Amino acid sequence: MLIGGIACRFEKAGGRVRLYIMTLGVLAPYRGRGVGQRLLVRALTEGAKENVEDVYLHVQARRTQPSLAARPSPAAPQVINTEAVEFYKKFGFEVKERIAGYYKRLDPPDCFLLSRSMSDWSPPQLALPGDDTSDRTLDAP
Ligand SMILES: CC(C)(COP(=O)(O)OP(=O)(O)OC[C@H]1O[C@@H](n2cnc3c(N)ncnc32)[C@H](O)[C@@H]1OP(=O)(O)O)[C@@H](O)C(=O)NCCC(=O)NCCS
Repeated sequence: MLIGGIACRFEKAGGRVRLYIMTLGVLAPYRGRGVGQRLLVRALTEGAKENVEDVYLHVQARRTQPSLAARPSPAAPQVINTEAVEFYKKFGFEVKERIAGYYKRLDPPDCFLLSRSMSDWSPPQLALPGDDTSDRTLDAP
């Protein structure tokens, strides 16, 4: 069963090469187990081989569902897709801007533009609990 995936493309323009992450996702029951970071690190490593200048992506500015106990008042600021942004920050990405109306078929339509320069990229050592190989079958949760 496929539990996660990443799709990227190289963009070449004006002598510059960039890597655009089109999508990255891990099935909910398998999140928090190191799958997402393996996919991202693999993509950045492939990008480094092609001498990409930077890597960028868009993250939907969707609302994180508040728990009933922690439901904010209508005046309180909303928590916005903290999971994805925190995930990417861990790998050196920065939020560059919020783009209103970026998505035509998603609600909310706004997104954050995140990017990281590849000038300081070096692949981190990744390990899953009990893992001593790069390929491993994850047990069902
Ligand atoms: C974002 C996403 C890909 C992360 O995948 P994942 O397999 O759960 O991530 P990992 O287990 O590899 O986590 C790597 C690190 O990211 C951070 N992270 C991951 N999920 C997080 C969360 N919910 N909140 C805060 N930090 C988080 C953690 O620091 C984690 O490292 P840790 O071992 O120190 O906890 C996954 O949550 C997902 O598919 N989300 C829905 C789709 C999406 O938003 N994609 C991004 C836009 S393209």
